[in-house]
Amino acid sequence: MTNYVDFDPSRRLLVRRRSQLALQSLTMDAVEQSLRKALAEKQSAVETQGNAVRALKAAATPASKPEIDAAIATLNNLKLEKSSIEKQLQAHITDAGGDGSFSKEAFRQAVVNTLERRLFYIPSFKIYRGVAGLYDYGPPGCSVKSNVLSFWRQHFVLEENMLEVDCPCVTPEVVLKASGHVDKFTDLMVKDEKTGTCYRADHLLKDFCNEKLQKDLSIAPEKAAELKHVLATLDDFSSEELGAKIKEYGITAPDTKNSLSDPYPFNLMFQTSIGPSGLSPGYMRPETAQGIFVNFKDLYYYNGNKLPFAAAQIGQAFRNEISPRQGLLRVREFTLAEIEHFVDPDDKSHPKYSEVANLEFLMFPRDEQMSGQSAKKIVLGDAVSRGIVNNETLGYFIGRVYLFLTRLGIDKERLRFRQHLANEMAHYACDCWDAEIECSYGWIECVGIADRSAYDLRAHSEKSGVPLVAHEKFSEPKEVEKLVIAPVKKELGLAFKGNQKMVVESLEAMGEKEALDMKAALESKGEVDFYVCTLGKNVAIKKNMVAISKEKKKEHQRVFTPSVIEPSFGIGRIIYCLFEHSFYMRPSKAGDEQLNVFRFPPIVAPIKCTVFPLVQNQQYEEISKLISKSLTAAGISHKIDMTGTSIGKRYARTDELGVPFAITVDSATSVTIRERDSKHQVRVSVEEAASVVKDVTEGHRTWADVWSTFPHHSSASADE
Ligand code: ATP
Ligand code: GLY
Repeated sequence: MTNYVDFDPSRRLLVRRRSQLALQSLTMDAVEQSLRKALAEKQSAVETQGNAVRALKAAATPASKPEIDAAIATLNNLKLEKSSIEKQLQAHITDAGGDGSFSKEAFRQAVVNTLERRLFYIPSFKIYRGVAGLYDYGPPGCSVKSNVLSFWRQHFVLEENMLEVDCPCVTPEVVLKASGHVDKFTDLMVKDEKTGTCYRADHLLKDFCNEKLQKDLSIAPEKAAELKHVLATLDDFSSEELGAKIKEYGITAPDTKNSLSDPYPFNLMFQTSIGPSGLSPGYMRPETAQGIFVNFKDLYYYNGNKLPFAAAQIGQAFRNEISPRQGLLRVREFTLAEIEHFVDPDDKSHPKYSEVANLEFLMFPRDEQMSGQSAKKIVLGDAVSRGIVNNETLGYFIGRVYLFLTRLGIDKERLRFRQHLANEMAHYACDCWDAEIECSYGWIECVGIADRSAYDLRAHSEKSGVPLVAHEKFSEPKEVEKLVIAPVKKELGLAFKGNQKMVVESLEAMGEKEALDMKAALESKGEVDFYVCTLGKNVAIKKNMVAISKEKKKEHQRVFTPSVIEPSFGIGRIIYCLFEHSFYMRPSKAGDEQLNVFRFPPIVAPIKCTVFPLVQNQQYEEISKLISKSLTAAGISHKIDMTGTSIGKRYARTDELGVPFAITVDSATSVTIRERDSKHQVRVSVEEAASVVKDVTEGHRTWADVWSTFPHHSSASADE
C-alpha cells in the first residue's frame, strides 16, 4: 500500500499519493545534459550562420558566388550536425524499440491484438460499448490468472505458513474512516470547463512535461531541467500549486483544448449503502489489507499468541480511477494479493533471511535516484547490511518477491526494486520498495513492499476501542523506565482554545529525545517554541502546560503494537507485464508470415499440452483420446485438436496461446512430443507420453533431459 503520504505526526491525516512516476531518473543524466547543451549550442550556431548567409546575400556590395556557396555549405553542415544530435537525444529519451525497427507502440499493438483475438481478455460489457477501466478475463486469461494465483499461494502462503483469510468487499464506513480512506483516499481532479470531462490533474501536468521533454528538443537546457524537476516533485504539489502550474504552462483539456477548472480532491472509493434503510454507509474496499488488520486479535490468538506471523488475502479491490488508461494497468476493479506480516518492532530479523541474502538483482536506492543514476545490480545481503534496505524481514520479502516474479517468467533485466523517495513515503513508514517491471508503457509499479510500522493497528485500536496489541511475557519481572508526557489540558485550553486538541496530540506524539530536550529547555528557560504540524506553525509551550518525566515501574510483560511489513501485489499488472515479456514473433518456415508465440513457463501456461492426430484417421483419433484420458488422470490441462488443418497451422495456433508441449499421434505405437520454443521433437511410446509431459510440465525433469533421453524427430510439416 504505497499510496499515502502522511503529513501529520499525530498519525491521522493521510493523503493519497497522487502519481506513480515511472522514474527513469529524477534529474537529467549526464548524457542527456550534454546532448541538450550541444543541441542548444548547435541551434544558436545555425541561427548565426543563417544570419551570416542572409547578410552576405543582402550586402550593398554583394558577396561573390563562391563566398555565398561556402557560407551555405557551412550552414547545411551545421544543420546536419544539429539533426544528428536531435536524433541521439530523441533515442536517448524515448529509448525507442531496441534496434529501432519495432517501436514500443507497434510491439504493444501486436501483443494486445493477439490477447484480444485469442480472448485472453475482453473489454467488459463490450456489446454496450464497454466501460473504461473494466475488463473481463476470457478462457485463456482466466487460466493464466488462476495459475498465477495458485503459484502465489504455493510460494507465499504455503511456504511461510501464512494464515489466509477471505473478507467481504463491502466494508462499513467506520473501518475506512479509521484507516484514513474516507477522508484522504483522493486524487486531484480537473474538469473541462465546457464539456465537464474529468482528468487527473497530476497526469495532465506529467504528460505535458514528458511530451515537451521528448518532442520539443529545442527547449533550453534550463527549461528541460525545470520540467524534470516538476516531474520529480509532482507528488509534493498541493492542489493550489498543481493548479498554478497548469495555468502557467497553459495546459488545456486534451480532447477539446477547452480551459480547465482548478484542481479539487476526488475520493476514489465506490460508495454504497448497506441494507435497505440507506442509513448505514459503506464502500467497496479499495484494498484487502483492512480486512486483515481488523481481524488481528483473533489471528494472533489462532497463532498461539506468537509473533511473527503473516496473514494473507486474495480478493477484488475497487478504485474509481478518474481517467483509467494504459489498458489492464490502471483499472477500476482489480485483484490484489496482500500479505500482512506482523513482527516485533524491536526485532525485525527473519529466520529464513539467509535463503535470499545471496540473490543479486537490479535495485534502485533513493540516493541513486536523487543523483540521476540508474538502477544497478546489488547483492540483497549487501543492501541490508549497508542499511540501504531497512531490515532483514523487509529484505526477505524483497528477495521472495524477486523469486516469485522471475519464476513466473518476468525478465530479470526488466525488473527492478525501487526505493521510495522521502516525499513518497508515509512518515510512519520505515522503508518502502516497489517491484517495478518495465513494459512498453515504461516502468510500472506491480508490487509495493512497505514497512508500515504500527500505523494501521493503532488506528483501528483507537477507533474500535479494542486493543490490537501483542504481549511478550518476561520470565521474571523487569524494572523499566518509562517516559510519561502529561499535557495539562486546562492550561493548554486557556492558551490555545480551539487548537488545544491538536497541540495535545502533537505533544503526546513526541519521541523520547524530543520530549527530554523540551523538559530541559522548559526547566532552564520556562518557555519553548514547539512546531505543531497539524497547525503548520510554532506555538509557545510554557512550563505549566506539560509535565514530562521518567518513571520506574515493575513490569511482568511487554505490551506493544506489532509492526507490519506488507507486500501488496497487483495481479492484473503482473499478468499484463508477463504477457509482454513472454510475447515474441518468429517467421513461419516458408518465411511468408510472422507467427506469434507466448513463451509462458509451464506453471503459467493456460493449457499445458495439446494432442493432435497427425491426420484424420480413426486409429490415430482413438489413440489421441486414450492419451487425453491419461493426461486428465495426471491432472494436466490439455486440448485435443482433431481438425483436418495442417499440423504446422495447428502448432502455430497453440504457440499463440503459449501451450508449451504438443503430442502428435503419427503412428500406432509411438507419438512425438514437441517443445514450443525450440520446436524440437522427441519420439516416445504411446504409453509414456502423458507421464513425460506431466514430469516436464511440473518441473520434475527438464526439456534438456527429455531431449537427451529420447530419439529425436524431425518435423515433416511444411508449415513448421
Ligand atoms: P498507483 O500509484 O499506480 O495508482 P498505488 O501506489 O496507488 O498505485 P497501491 O495502493 O500501492 O498502488 O496498490 C498496491 C498494488 O495494486 C500496486 O502495486 C498495483 O500493482 C496495484 N494497483 C493499484 N491501483 C491499481 C489500478 N487502478 N489498476 C490495477 N492495479 C492497481
Ligand atoms: N510430429 C509431426 C510433425 O510435426 O510433423
